[in-house]
Amino acid sequence: MSNSRNHNPGAVVAAVSASEPRAKSGDMPAATDASIRHLYVHIPFCARICPYCAFYKDLLDRSQTWRFCEAILRELDQTRRSFVISPETIYFGGGTPTALTTAQLEFLLRGFRERLDLSFLEEWTIEANPGSVSMRKAALLRKLGVTRVSLGVQSWEDELLKLLGRDHNGRQAEESFRSLRAAGFSNINVDLMFGLPGQTIDQWKATLGTSVALQPEHVSAYCLTYEEDTEFFVRHASGEFRQDADGDAEFFDMAMSILENAGYEHYEISNYARPGFSSVHNRAYWLGEDYLGIGPSAVSTVDTRRWQNVCDYRIYIDRVLSAQSPRGPGETLTDEMKRMERIALTLRTRDGVSASDLKHFAPQTNEFIALDLLRESNGNFVLTRKGKALADSVAEAFL
Ligand SMILES: C[S@@+](CC[C@H](N)C(=O)[O-])C[C@H]1O[C@@H](n2cnc3c(N)ncnc32)[C@H](O)[C@@H]1O
Ligand code: SF4
Repeated sequence: MSNSRNHNPGAVVAAVSASEPRAKSGDMPAATDASIRHLYVHIPFCARICPYCAFYKDLLDRSQTWRFCEAILRELDQTRRSFVISPETIYFGGGTPTALTTAQLEFLLRGFRERLDLSFLEEWTIEANPGSVSMRKAALLRKLGVTRVSLGVQSWEDELLKLLGRDHNGRQAEESFRSLRAAGFSNINVDLMFGLPGQTIDQWKATLGTSVALQPEHVSAYCLTYEEDTEFFVRHASGEFRQDADGDAEFFDMAMSILENAGYEHYEISNYARPGFSSVHNRAYWLGEDYLGIGPSAVSTVDTRRWQNVCDYRIYIDRVLSAQSPRGPGETLTDEMKRMERIALTLRTRDGVSASDLKHFAPQTNEFIALDLLRESNGNFVLTRKGKALADSVAEAFL
């Protein structure tokens, strides 16, 4: 079972190493009049590195964070020279954006507000780790226009949080959630993980129950993946941790049942929302809309061009502050590549894949319908409940 933790779909492009040649002007798409409606900003700092995490991140170094914030605004200025940006969504992801101080977040958010026309903004999300959102920080974020917070709870069980190397316990996560509510946030997501080594179905049931009791507007429930270059990957490869596909399917089924019974719509394999609270930003990715990424490792896709910024924040800062581009070489997306990506992403959503994208796959779709893995709905092909648990295998048949 795989997830779509694609707050910025970096996994779809090859990582740009720090030693790659600098972006030449020819690597960038020509300036365009079409406005960009989705902006992703990557803040790589974390107070502690979790042993399962493969996102681009680095240990928080307070001597670098102010220069980093200056570089982010400078890159935004560079980008505005090439593109008209009129955001409907902004997503500050990481890493841990809330690892920055309140003053640094204020500098960044005010910088964005001064530089961008936010009259079309529908959603401004920030990722937060429990323990890094004080009441003052939460109030500031709300005051400066952030509308949605994604809180990385993972589990409410202290024993599992310890295994995950988290620097918070369940009680602190609950306090953070309540601080966000008290600061006026009416759109909060809670990230949870299942399929963890040693996690029991009763623990998962309890975690789902505690989450529902707190009434977040949105829940993301991710099955643990053993990502390469992580400590968990090594422990899995050595046989210490084992993956159990049947167990994962049981956890997934329980999440669907409990969350749907509590009024959440299962609108994407890993995502559940109260009506009206699905993530606008993620939806834009899934539908293949253009987006710009700011910050180290951030990916951008505009029309047929896709590129990724350098994956090293020190090199990123040096380049941007010396007026050079932080962009890697990039690639051109063919219609076929875009169609494949659209199939892989939309198959996982409640609305499913358009019949036109699957027109060359009639034998496969018919077989999946016969197996009760797919169904037709409004001209689209949508995974059934049984199909959701086998989403990866279904997707593979089309790719
Ligand atoms: C960008 S990450 C982390 C955001 C934030 N720094 C945190 O740790 O709470 C977003 C989410 O991806 C999920 N995640 C990260 N690594 C994962 C993995 N290896 N398997 C499954 N989910 C993962 C976690 O639920 C995490 O909250
Ligand atoms: S899971 Fe979050 S806090 Fe942990 S290392 Fe990854 S980005 Fe940082």
